[in-house]
Amino acid sequence: MSNLIVLGAQWGDEGKGKIVDLFSEKFDAVARYQGGHNAGHTVFIGSRKFVLKLIPSGILRPGVSAIIGNGVVVDPAALLEEIHALEAAGVDVRSQLKISNRAHVIFPFHRTIEKISEGRENRIPIGTTSRGIGPCYEDKIARRGIRIADLVDNDFPKLYCALAEDKQLIANAFDIAEPGDFKEILEQYQRFAEEIRPLACDTASLLNGMIREGKSILFEGAQGTMLDIDFGTYPFVTSSSAAAGGACTGTGVPPTKIDGIVGVSKAYITRVGAGAFPSEDTTEVGEKIRRAGNEFGSVTGRPRRCGWFDVPLLRYTAEVNGFDSLIITKLDVLDELEEIPVCVAYEVDGKVVTQMPASARRMEAIRPVYERLPGWKTKTQGIAQISKLPPAAQTYLKFLEERTGVEIGSVSNGPERNETMIVPGSKLEKLLQ
Ligand code: IMP
Repeated sequence: MSNLIVLGAQWGDEGKGKIVDLFSEKFDAVARYQGGHNAGHTVFIGSRKFVLKLIPSGILRPGVSAIIGNGVVVDPAALLEEIHALEAAGVDVRSQLKISNRAHVIFPFHRTIEKISEGRENRIPIGTTSRGIGPCYEDKIARRGIRIADLVDNDFPKLYCALAEDKQLIANAFDIAEPGDFKEILEQYQRFAEEIRPLACDTASLLNGMIREGKSILFEGAQGTMLDIDFGTYPFVTSSSAAAGGACTGTGVPPTKIDGIVGVSKAYITRVGAGAFPSEDTTEVGEKIRRAGNEFGSVTGRPRRCGWFDVPLLRYTAEVNGFDSLIITKLDVLDELEEIPVCVAYEVDGKVVTQMPASARRMEAIRPVYERLPGWKTKTQGIAQISKLPPAAQTYLKFLEERTGVEIGSVSNGPERNETMIVPGSKLEKLLQ
């Protein structure tokens, strides 16, 4: 069995959660490597619905370890709320969950700073999830952040007071009337620390030890490559390394131990928040997709912007991640359409561009070039083999495979675990053996 990275090939919300949940039974551990509770993935335990934001979905498989890696930013209040909700549903969270002692901690003042930054005059807002994610990563990179190891250490009050003083100065400078009661927060976080201490450890050492014992790890990306801090549509991105490289820096498992990288993409594309979106459909057809695909954020409830499968974008994310295989989700959402546009090229200033533009201005200037494929106008949900899909759906998938240059190793056509087909003989099938 391999060590596999599963990550988003678009702007997030590709359905990775369902895929990770499905694959996790074949792995010994599932590890998150970046982001925080800005991610969201809906799961059902019996008839109860949960939105997992921080805890990897491996937690729902008894015996599978769920690891929060060093690259993740942890809001202890959000984490404990998730732990308690899962425990109330009978999940044995504390025997399966481990949190890196090198992960950084989110404080309420991070959210306040985000609000200031997003609301500032003359600034185009990013449209963040308002969870304090960006400001926490800012403190990490500025080398003044507080990590889980500090939170559970006797030194915590000293470190906290120094950081809180910094934030108080900013609050004063911006004349924030309610900067938050720093003393109360200190006491609250000391209570959180008591509960988190038994879960904190050196997860890099834990994961590498498991690999040495022949165990297999599934690395779960949050957000998607186009939201990656380096390779995404900067500055309209999240603040972490969502691309495959982040799996190594965000867990401490070296690249030499990774056996496969799998991208997840919808059969169309969506985006939440601001920023360029070349193949966006703002007509009633886009609206139809939103309704058919229930395209509303699981964390913020915001309507997702919808558009068409974007080949240049996929080729780009395949290149920077090195995808071995691609999983196409939500094929069934396209079932009703007469014809399906696919963006096959970008033009900027009348010229075809072959590289993803780096500047936000050039990204916005992209004119998408479309080819239109016939729809299949048949219900695909319930079909359990790719070869049984309507011929037009098979042609559509073949087209995506040929144009992106990446094998399609799996197709999902419904929300349930069993509504995912693996292509026989694919690289993905081998990676999962
Ligand atoms: P932040 O991660 O809250 O800083 O938000 C930065 C950008 O990433 C915004 O456009 C968000 O809408 C987007 N974003 C963050 N998390 C997710 C996610 O899980 N799915 C989709 N978009 C996300």
